[in-house]
Amino acid sequence: MSERVQFATRVGAIAASVGSAVGLGNIWRFPCEAGEHGGGAFLLIYLACVLLMGIPVIVAEFVIGRGTHRNVSGALQQLAPGKKFHWLSWMWITASLMILSFYSAVCGWIVEYLIQAASGHMSGLTLEQYHERFNAFVANPWRCSLWTVLFLLINYYVLRHGVKRGIERVANVMMPLLFIILIILSVKALTLDKAAEGIRFLFTPDFSKITPRVVIGAMGQAFFSLSLGLSCLLTYASYFNNSNRLVRSATIIAVLDTVVAVLAGIVIFPAVFTYGMTPQEGPTLVFEVLPAIFQQMTGSYVWNLLFFILLFFASLTSTISMSEISITFFSEEYKMSRNGATALNTGIAVVFGVLCALSFGVLNDLRIFGLTLFELFDFVSSNILLPAGGIFFSLFVGWYVDRRFVRDQLTNFSTVTPRVHGIIGFCMRWVAPVAITIVFLYGLFGH
Ligand code: PHE
Repeated sequence: MSERVQFATRVGAIAASVGSAVGLGNIWRFPCEAGEHGGGAFLLIYLACVLLMGIPVIVAEFVIGRGTHRNVSGALQQLAPGKKFHWLSWMWITASLMILSFYSAVCGWIVEYLIQAASGHMSGLTLEQYHERFNAFVANPWRCSLWTVLFLLINYYVLRHGVKRGIERVANVMMPLLFIILIILSVKALTLDKAAEGIRFLFTPDFSKITPRVVIGAMGQAFFSLSLGLSCLLTYASYFNNSNRLVRSATIIAVLDTVVAVLAGIVIFPAVFTYGMTPQEGPTLVFEVLPAIFQQMTGSYVWNLLFFILLFFASLTSTISMSEISITFFSEEYKMSRNGATALNTGIAVVFGVLCALSFGVLNDLRIFGLTLFELFDFVSSNILLPAGGIFFSLFVGWYVDRRFVRDQLTNFSTVTPRVHGIIGFCMRWVAPVAITIVFLYGLFGH
């Protein structure tokens, strides 16, 4: 496997992984979850989850990926020869295609809003009208499907260019741009009238608000947001070179991902309070409330445009990483060409992505266990398959894999000494699996 492709630079490797982690999960889901679960209290628990569970599982995936330089199935065959663990790869391939499908349906909405924003059609409406517009749009089968397909074709285009020229190059440009746009927006948000109220809501923990639901919500959010348990970071780590310090990279990714989520909160909550809305607005916060908020600011055209460009970039670098799992799998395990594997991935995602997009309109009555296809894919992947994957990776690296192999990966063959080595090991073996099992069981049976 010596000629296997690698990221060209360490910065590129980190940019790509941060690109995977930062996405709708940070900018759309985090403010919405934090809003529902009481702001500061949620943030505090979220930070604890990222530290105790997030970083150790990222490290576990990194150890497997970088240690073997293979796709998830090949890696498990190498680390557990003759065992059946590698059959679990199908679970991750299925999960990644499910997430890609429902995620691209939302990305289709982003394309629509981006086009509307660019052509100046986002201005001059009231909150009520934004609400109606959103509902009318998701009920329109043609527009939703078209934009979902268009998004997937852009995704395909980047992936076809491979790891270095496609993924790494796009991440190197988009990630810094994303930070810049987000910082501009948060500076703007901080100048709003009731900014202080929004900031207080986000940063002052009210301990009486900490309930089991808040803890579970925060853990689930950390999982989705850090792209954990899907073998996505494992696949990216298989392109890392041997001098990449895994614990340090994992920490940088977790910190930057959290910074983006907090910045998204700093953009949204001051605006929510200033314009007399409630933080509990839910999933429509981004598509209905934000445009209504931008509307009341001077230069609304630019704010709308900047925001949807930001969301588009963030989502694209995430869908690229989800797709890469199956592309590497099919091309290495089934000897497909990269182009063929990319086309296969896109083809499957187009079919299911369009079905997910339609489940807000014409296919809304098609229910499986009472859920639309979109909801089913979201539930099965985020609540079942991701936590299951996280439990597996932490137990597998914590207990099963040869200790020396793990140590060599963590210390880059004894050339570096991560200071938190012992804590990471403890969290990987005990804290993460136990904590994730609790979320997992609660997610399945606790409602
Ligand atoms: N972490 C991404 C986000 O926050 C979503 C994602 C999940 C990406 C799983 C890859 C794998 O939007």
